[in-house]
Amino acid sequence: MKVYDCLLKELKAAYAKSGNNVAVSYSSMARYSTRPYVSDTHGGRFVQNYANKTGRAYGAYENAGTLPEGTVLAKDSFSVSGGGKVAIGPLFIMEKMRAGFNSDSGDWRYTMIMPNGSVFGTTKGKGADSVEFCIGCHMSVTPDQDSIMLLPEEYRVR
Ligand code: HEC
Repeated sequence: MKVYDCLLKELKAAYAKSGNNVAVSYSSMARYSTRPYVSDTHGGRFVQNYANKTGRAYGAYENAGTLPEGTVLAKDSFSVSGGGKVAIGPLFIMEKMRAGFNSDSGDWRYTMIMPNGSVFGTTKGKGADSVEFCIGCHMSVTPDQDSIMLLPEEYRVR
């Protein structure tokens, strides 16, 4: 999607202001969505999903199993107003940490980066309370699925 390719530069620049490693580099990871799609659970914004090499099993979707330590999943977002104006949304990040990091989140660290580069919150770090709601929803899948919720089939890269 040409429009997204153009927008991606702006998304990258916005998130990179945070200095967060994933925010700086996520767009070089493999993308697992064929195009931006609306995610009601992430503010009704358009989103795309990325996973790093360690997390490439994400591409097996329902058969991904337990993702290894070092897995990074990222989801950028934006919205388009009726008048066609684009607004950058947050960057949503899940990182699989070492075993024992936090059993309440299945050892995933959730981070939300705001479009102005501020970090809204990160599990076990600054603003941890603000990202508790991520855990609440993501932990609701069957344990076999390791907190990954998976995108709608029609937008999956195969
Ligand atoms: C109400 C439920 C809900 C909440 C709250 C939620 N998510 Fe998600 N998340 C989903 C669903 C459903 C998907 C897959 C479908 C989609 O993209 O909408 C998903 C997908 C993701 C993905 C891509 C990996 C995957 O699971 O397929 C990341 C990364 C992610 N969410 C991060 C976050 C972060 C960070 C937060 C909190 C700031 C958060 N999510 C809050 C439901 C939720």
